[in-house]
Amino acid sequence: MNRSSDLGPNQSLIGRPGSRHRLATPALIVELGALERNIAKMARDHAAIGLDLRPHAKTHKSAAIARKQIDAGALGVCCATLREAEAMAAGDIPGVHLSSPVVGDGKLRRLAALNADAEGLMVAADNRQNLAQLDEAAEASGDSLNVLVDIDVGMARTGVGTVEGAVRLARAVSDAEYLTYRGIQGYSGKVQHIERLGERTEVYGAHLDHLRDVVEALKDAGLAPEIVSGGGTGTHGIDREAGLFTEHQAGSYIFMDVEYNAVEFDGTGEPPFETALFVQCSVVSNNAEGFVTIDGGFKCFATDGPKPRIAATSIKGAGFDRFGDEHGKVILPEGANEKPGLGDPILLITPHCDPTVNLHDYYHVVDGDTLVDIWPVDARGVL
Ligand SMILES: Cc1ncc(COP(=O)(O)O)c(C=O)c1O
Repeated sequence: MNRSSDLGPNQSLIGRPGSRHRLATPALIVELGALERNIAKMARDHAAIGLDLRPHAKTHKSAAIARKQIDAGALGVCCATLREAEAMAAGDIPGVHLSSPVVGDGKLRRLAALNADAEGLMVAADNRQNLAQLDEAAEASGDSLNVLVDIDVGMARTGVGTVEGAVRLARAVSDAEYLTYRGIQGYSGKVQHIERLGERTEVYGAHLDHLRDVVEALKDAGLAPEIVSGGGTGTHGIDREAGLFTEHQAGSYIFMDVEYNAVEFDGTGEPPFETALFVQCSVVSNNAEGFVTIDGGFKCFATDGPKPRIAATSIKGAGFDRFGDEHGKVILPEGANEKPGLGDPILLITPHCDPTVNLHDYYHVVDGDTLVDIWPVDARGVL
């Protein structure tokens, strides 16, 4: 595996008992046991019904984590950016699927280079002009390129919107000289975080009905999809019951976050996956009454969703408020008679895991109180 030799300012703490509490902060933390249990659970549950798993690497951008998913039975990983796909290929991760369209000369050249290297590479496409570009890139790579036709199931972000359009594009893929038609992809991002299970099932039901119509029309046209790929953490239970997908693209289940912890997955009232991702911060000022200031602000946590939440193991009942680019405010619970001291670690659950990970260079992998490893966020960035 392609590992960076620079693992940041906490490298010398690896393997030292109690080192978790001495980390330079803000530090992205992954709890190894919880991560491994989440990976194993999704793999086991999918395997039990014969549903393949191609988890989304946009969540973690890490070849080390992808390797764990492959070792647990995943047939590959999805990627949102070329950089992610390149990082996965460099880490010898098989079955890379680019689930976002690849557009632009420079990116198509990189795709061609990747296709020459990464066996089984797949890419999603929703547009004839793009198909012609992909066909050229595949020819330049000297190998055929696998394509999934991207179906818009109701989000209108990418994808072909109509059943007829999907059949036409699938036909164009299968007619293209250097492209191999493998099937379709249909992902519904908009529904993943609908908190109530009943509402999520209802809204998503219409999306799945459309996908089912596309599959039937493709079969009638002699273009039966070998692969039907899609689904996410929020819909994974519904996806399993739909009997429509051949493989599943869930990503966030490995970490969970404040947003997903608020989602009702089943009747139990408990999320089916453990929170495995945190940011550890430190108190940098404690002069004020009722709160302390920590070294975690906008540059440390995603700001598209809810606020980060203080882990109960850190200070039970404490609240968080944003306090600027570099700082956060930890509001102490009423009646708290002790204030955290300068340098004290405070652990926070990430608001939205994917964009939070993208703000950090390293995962600090902890087992109990010990920092046991550091994994680079290999594909950090957006290019
Ligand atoms: C195309 C696609 N598939 C799968 C996922 C994974 O979804 P989740 O992180 O909710 O499991 C995403 C996430 O945005 C996505 O864009």
